[in-house]
Amino acid sequence: MGGSERRYVDEAFRSNWLSTVGPNISAFESDFQSLLGVPAVAVSSGTAAIHLALRVLDVRPGDAVFCQDLTFVATANPIRYLGAEPVFIDSNYETWNMDPQVLADALRERALRNKLPRAVVAVDLFGQCADYDPLLESCRKYGIPLLEDAAEALGGTYRQRPAGTCGDIGVFSFNGNKMITTTGGGMLVSSNEGWVNRARYLSTQARNPGICYEHSELGYNYRMSNVLAGIGRGQVEVLSLRVEQRRALAFAYREAFKDIEGISAMPQAEYGVHTNWLSCFLIDQHRCGRSRDELIRILDEAGVESRPVWKPMHMQQLYKHCSRYGGGVAEQLFTRGICLPSSSSLTAQQQRYVIDVMRHAVGMSHGSYTTISMADSAAGCGA
Ligand SMILES: Cc1ncc(COP(=O)(O)O)c(C=O)c1O
Repeated sequence: MGGSERRYVDEAFRSNWLSTVGPNISAFESDFQSLLGVPAVAVSSGTAAIHLALRVLDVRPGDAVFCQDLTFVATANPIRYLGAEPVFIDSNYETWNMDPQVLADALRERALRNKLPRAVVAVDLFGQCADYDPLLESCRKYGIPLLEDAAEALGGTYRQRPAGTCGDIGVFSFNGNKMITTTGGGMLVSSNEGWVNRARYLSTQARNPGICYEHSELGYNYRMSNVLAGIGRGQVEVLSLRVEQRRALAFAYREAFKDIEGISAMPQAEYGVHTNWLSCFLIDQHRCGRSRDELIRILDEAGVESRPVWKPMHMQQLYKHCSRYGGGVAEQLFTRGICLPSSSSLTAQQQRYVIDVMRHAVGMSHGSYTTISMADSAAGCGA
């Protein structure tokens, strides 16, 4: 927490605006509008925001939706909630995000078969924006909307444009581990105000105007509460600090491992600011002498939580039958990628310890390290 969250939450209690209407919600949404320059609607989770975005884009049962293969499962699940079929698109090594060439080829091939997808969902993985100019160019060519899953990338940019505003519609998550948190929550944004208003309406049970409880289409109970929006208001005040902190951690790790062969950092594309929501590295077992899984185990034994990079959707039991274009890059990134502790609450001493354990594991430091407690600070990196 930054400091003023409690004040906004107290205001909600004092005024008795506790539920899904109230001044904190409007203020949190206008904070986002000021930050990103587009209208926003606050909802109960990032997953809910994706579900609403796909509804707004009129995704229907039986539709195909192209979706980044390398991501957290919440990107793909809402496609299924709507009875549509995800089709997975591989990443490239330069960004770890959707490969524009793979997308272009996939769309061309689908257009020939008259089987174009209803929408494309790209992800800003671990805080780095996808390469939107070529992705949008392909989507525009076939008139297909692009949904930007910026759940992990609030505060990042792509060619001076804020993450979340690069596609036609964007979503954020305020889950406990994200750049900022409302304990749980999400935001949907778009320069298309009609879409944002429609998402707001769908998020409140799609109730028709008027005092009667009248409904002509299916809605959801997805609105954020005024109490949680109070936390969000306080968190927005510390967003730039959080970006600085996460970037500082990532660059300190990079510096500490730069002399180690076989440990390479996730690339930072030249086109924008990568928030480094998580600090990720690729492990080359043949060059550093340890596999990714061995490093995870060694860190675990030293009391440090680390995780593999997201498991690609096409490798999941849930989605392995789905069509895909490529997948080899996502698989490599998953097999070799590790996420190190990245919380903005990680202390310099704790980070030094993680670095020492890593260096020791690959034979790059002599002697032993002194165990410190990592437990108190919720400094792990899990989702
Ligand atoms: C890429 C991505 N998309 C969507 C989500 C879902 O957000 P939430 O947990 O708020 O539903 C997350 C994180 O949880 C995520 O990392």
